[in-house]
Amino acid sequence: MDTIIFATHNAHKLEEVGKILSPLNIKVLGGDDCNLPEVEETGETFEENALIKAIAGVKALGKPVLAEDAGLSIEGLGGAPGVYSARFASAHGGYPETFKYINEQLSSGKSRDAFYTSIMVLAYSEDEYYVFKGYMHGKIALEPSGTNGFGYDPIFIPNGFNTTLGHIEEIVKNKISHRAQSIKQVYEFLKNKKGE
Ligand code: IMP
Repeated sequence: MDTIIFATHNAHKLEEVGKILSPLNIKVLGGDDCNLPEVEETGETFEENALIKAIAGVKALGKPVLAEDAGLSIEGLGGAPGVYSARFASAHGGYPETFKYINEQLSSGKSRDAFYTSIMVLAYSEDEYYVFKGYMHGKIALEPSGTNGFGYDPIFIPNGFNTTLGHIEEIVKNKISHRAQSIKQVYEFLKNKKGE
């Protein structure tokens, strides 16, 4: 059985990726299973950050490493918080305070269009790596609502829905999400690679 290391400490993400890749007889280990080094996300794009994590992992462990960087971009905020999504929420004192800040900023009629990005990088060496991109488009709600999901989900209404991700079942989110799109591409890539 082939093994891939997924550079995450998030058990939920690890399970999701492990399930998707299991039909290919690929075992997915997480960062906590194999002493993956912590690296600073110094990139200015999702792709740079995912690449930094994947390359650091493959250099330290000598095995294929999958890494992801994700975040929310809001049109009326000039694309912020983007790659700084986690840091933006901490800087504002947590998600409830951040939602308040975002809605204050958008209250003057700025665009509420927004999208999540998930960029996955699968690295076999420093020179051989592949990039996969997933997006979920939607709008910022007038106020936060619902407790499902995490992060910015209570203020994000995906296109085609009339409620926030805070009210949408996990099984549905996992079909439409940015991460679902990028992981599916990793799956197809690995399936083709196995068939070569
Ligand atoms: P990470 O790269 O998955 O750690 O995501 C960075 C940050 O982006 C998270 O801490 C959240 O603030 C935000 N984010 C990424 N994906 C999601 C999502 O699916 N729902 C809500 N927030 C997300």
